[in-house]
Amino acid sequence: MKTAIVVARSLNGVIGNGSKIPWKVKGEQSLFKHITMGGTLVMGRKTFESIGLPLPGRKTIIVSRNKKYSHAGCKVCPSIKAALRLGDEIKKPIFIAGGGEIYRLTLPIVETVHITTVQTEVTGEVYFPDFPTPDFELAEEREYESNVNYLYQRYEKQS
Ligand SMILES: NC(=O)c1ccc[n+]([C@@H]2O[C@H](COP(=O)([O-])OP(=O)(O)OC[C@H]3O[C@@H](n4cnc5c(N)ncnc54)[C@H](OP(=O)(O)O)[C@@H]3O)[C@@H](O)[C@H]2O)c1
Repeated sequence: MKTAIVVARSLNGVIGNGSKIPWKVKGEQSLFKHITMGGTLVMGRKTFESIGLPLPGRKTIIVSRNKKYSHAGCKVCPSIKAALRLGDEIKKPIFIAGGGEIYRLTLPIVETVHITTVQTEVTGEVYFPDFPTPDFELAEEREYESNVNYLYQRYEKQS
């Protein structure tokens, strides 16, 4: 299946502070919902726990090395490879939903990156890798005005 990253970062590349996303930007979460609705979300165990429940209208695959880990309404896979294989079987677009560890491991293999840059600098210790890399090309761009303005961009891997 087509596999895409969906991420929001600050101007200084931060995506998380502890278990939290360190900003509150009106509208930014509805963009995430709009992009991912109907698809399969693949996320790290820590990100899942920061959300706490499977998001409606989407399948959730949690990646964890803990064989005993489970949560109602979610599938758990022991590796990214296994998660993507299961995602293929589900036959819905696959969205990699974080966090830092999972983005770092999947950036080299996704075809699409939906990246929102929140126009502020914040403190945090979880970062998205340097992006865009030369193998990605900008395909779409929209600016949004909000309590903190944000820029949505879609990048596609060049074939
Ligand atoms: N701004 C955004 O768009 C965005 C989106 C999502 C998350 N976030 C933020 O990102 C932060 C969380 O990111 P994180 O890097 O700390 O954690 P994470 O990537 O969400 O989860 C890490 C966990 O995933 C599992 N894992 C990682 N690599 C694995 C592999 N190769 N095979 C099997 N399991 C693997 C492990 O779970 P076990 O320990 O259970 O084995 C690991 O502890 C939070 O601050 C969150 O708010 C931001």
